[in-house]
Amino acid sequence: MSDIRPIGIFDSGVGGISVLREAVKIMPHEDFIFLGDNKNAPYGTKSSTQIRELTFGNIAKLIDMGAKALIIACNTATGAAVKDLRNMYPDTPIVGIEPAIKPAALHYPGGHILVMATPMTLKQEKFKKLLALYTDKADIVPVACPGLMEYVERGELDSDSLKGYLKQVLFSGQHDGTIDHGYDAIVLGCTHYPFVADTIREIAGETCELFDGAHGTARELKRRMDECELSAPEDKKGKVTFISSSGDEETIKLMNILFNK
Ligand code: DGL
Repeated sequence: MSDIRPIGIFDSGVGGISVLREAVKIMPHEDFIFLGDNKNAPYGTKSSTQIRELTFGNIAKLIDMGAKALIIACNTATGAAVKDLRNMYPDTPIVGIEPAIKPAALHYPGGHILVMATPMTLKQEKFKKLLALYTDKADIVPVACPGLMEYVERGELDSDSLKGYLKQVLFSGQHDGTIDHGYDAIVLGCTHYPFVADTIREIAGETCELFDGAHGTARELKRRMDECELSAPEDKKGKVTFISSSGDEETIKLMNILFNK
């Protein structure tokens, strides 16, 4: 059995394209609709109620467009809404994304690991539970990065202003200064951050390994779709459609640039 309906991928903005890219690599025969809620971004500084309402509305749109399966390509929205979404759409495989703490901690037992994420991701129960599973394995320091996703939304991936922002986040303030000893790994706990990975590496130091959940999330969706016999036939060539709630041509252009980066 096969199914040619599209897969829906949702994020608050352009960040989820880091997950879309991985999904297309491992499922090239599928059609994808990527929906970015750029008009309402950022989500990471909103309340849980606001994030849930926005996410429910956007997922309903993707379902109306015929999505056979969904990726919530946003750590913030996953933490706030994925459980309820699975109850709302029990017949649709829904895969969310979470900060890649597990692979980082298993790879660097006893190491120093920084977790960069939105303020709301770090406040959520889901994150606290995830963190608690690995605090005895490594020294894990979460750091909130309000304002960082906006650089990516502007297509500003290596500016001096961004470098100044990253120096501030990585070297001062919110955490205990373990950066002085160097981090072994940084977890990019927001789907926007892989697009500034090179700049983060430049500031944090080349020896620091970066982890993100994009590949694992895409692989999990493929596994679920195979299990439910929802995959498209392998002789079909897939396509990607970009939609933004901002209705703005510039945003669609940026989505294409990031997708092809
Ligand atoms: N890309 C989103 C995430 O993975 C959030 C960005 C935002 O809207 O604050 O958390």
